[in-house]
Amino acid sequence: SELEKLRRVNQLVGRILAELRTMAAPGVTTADIDAVAEARVREAGAEPAFKGYHGYPATICASVNEQVVHGIPSTRRLVEGDVLSIDMGAKLDGYFGDSAVTVPIGRVAAQASDLLRVTEESLFCGIAAVRPGARVSDIGAAVQQRVEANGFAVVREFVGHGIGTSLHEEPQIANYGPGGRGPRLAEGMVLAIEPMVNAGKAAVKVLSDGWTAVTRDGSLSAHFEHSVAVTQDGCEIL
Ligand code: MF3
Ligand code: CO
Repeated sequence: SELEKLRRVNQLVGRILAELRTMAAPGVTTADIDAVAEARVREAGAEPAFKGYHGYPATICASVNEQVVHGIPSTRRLVEGDVLSIDMGAKLDGYFGDSAVTVPIGRVAAQASDLLRVTEESLFCGIAAVRPGARVSDIGAAVQQRVEANGFAVVREFVGHGIGTSLHEEPQIANYGPGGRGPRLAEGMVLAIEPMVNAGKAAVKVLSDGWTAVTRDGSLSAHFEHSVAVTQDGCEIL
């Protein structure tokens, strides 16, 4: 019954993200996208998970170009060639959903579309490592391998996490490092896996707004996230 609630809230998040990505076009502001996100979450009888979390002011994180994660929606207008990460969490019937996508705005440079493709592939490499008996760090090892094979860099400072009746539960899920470490995965665990990948160097810093993480070298960054449940023989993307 818990998994059913987690499916419901995560599918709500997925459905809303699918609508938001269709809005992401030149001339639209990230605050416009946030307003639609909040309206859709509340129409469904859910609550935004990020709004009010340690004082975070919005429903989505909208991270543009060199912004890695936790970009605050604003009156900034998207322009052709940008890449926009939209990360959204919601709470429904006591359970949390959390997912993110990075989308191109109009036509983007070849390096930008490669970065988006490789980051999403690395998420699926991490997901493919999830099965009972595997170790938590097998996920990050699989992510890192795919990212670095393509000449990009994994962000170290932010991690994925368990998810359930709280947005962030144990364990932390790094997107790098040797496999074979950390707790063993078991059927019924629910994990939010979320690689953040930079086109240049791995280093990031947080801006003076206290939230927005950006690449130190100004290079583009991308972020994809799914919440998954460990099943008998692998996992289910919620
Ligand atoms: N997906 C991110 C996470 O799991 C987004 C959190 S934004 C915050 O940490 F505002 F809630 F911190
Ligand atoms: Co998350």
